[in-house]
Amino acid sequence: SDAYRAHFRVWRGDQDGGDLRDFEVEVHEGEVVLDIVHRLQATQAPDLAVRWNCKAGKCGSCSAEINGRPRLMCMTRMSVFTREETVTVTPLRAFPVVRDLVTDVGFNYTKARQVPAFVPPAELAPGEYRMTQEDVDRSQEFRKCIECFLCQDTCHVVRDHEENKPAFAGPRFLMRVAELDMHPLDAAEASGLDRKTTAQDEHGLGYCNITKCCTEVCPEGIKITDNALIPLKERAADRKYDPVVWLGNKIRRR
Ligand code: FES
Repeated sequence: SDAYRAHFRVWRGDQDGGDLRDFEVEVHEGEVVLDIVHRLQATQAPDLAVRWNCKAGKCGSCSAEINGRPRLMCMTRMSVFTREETVTVTPLRAFPVVRDLVTDVGFNYTKARQVPAFVPPAELAPGEYRMTQEDVDRSQEFRKCIECFLCQDTCHVVRDHEENKPAFAGPRFLMRVAELDMHPLDAAEASGLDRKTTAQDEHGLGYCNITKCCTEVCPEGIKITDNALIPLKERAADRKYDPVVWLGNKIRRR
């Protein structure tokens, strides 16, 4: 009925290199890019490597670049493309390829481990914690993160700059630092850990120049830049050395 054959171009290869291959694949009404990749596996390319789990935009596994834009394959409807258009699917550019569409996202787990956990307040037992609804809502937004790492992939600080990776945590983990720093019950500071200072000195907050590329690709619609990174910059101790904060303050004072 409404089925048609789409032009698909998929990157195939491994860490030693690869290239784009063209395929014609059947598409049915209501399907998403991941459906087409699965049909490609089932009919023409049984050894095509692709990572996925939930097919519901919740596990964060099926991240790839579709026509050069970081997206979840399971949440990208085929109806957003014209039938004539070639749909190009490539692996995340900021991470090393394992095979075909699968990349090694270990960088993100390394960065996750570098953010010290929530420090419970010493004087309160679990169950005695009280927070205002406003504070709950604030961290709730950040906790919608599904760790698809599309923000980490798109961020220009590391996207084409492997050399920046050691010094930069990326938007997902700077957002985590912001969440903990805003948490009214986090006792990190009392235990000698200043999250504002470590955000600058250890997690590379100063590299971020708030272009909002991360916010634009977030499938959960988290306002990473406006609600996490800019407030963290504003709270960070060394204000005068961050030109973005300095400029922001100047504009707001007018
Ligand atoms: Fe889980 Fe796409 S398969 S987010």
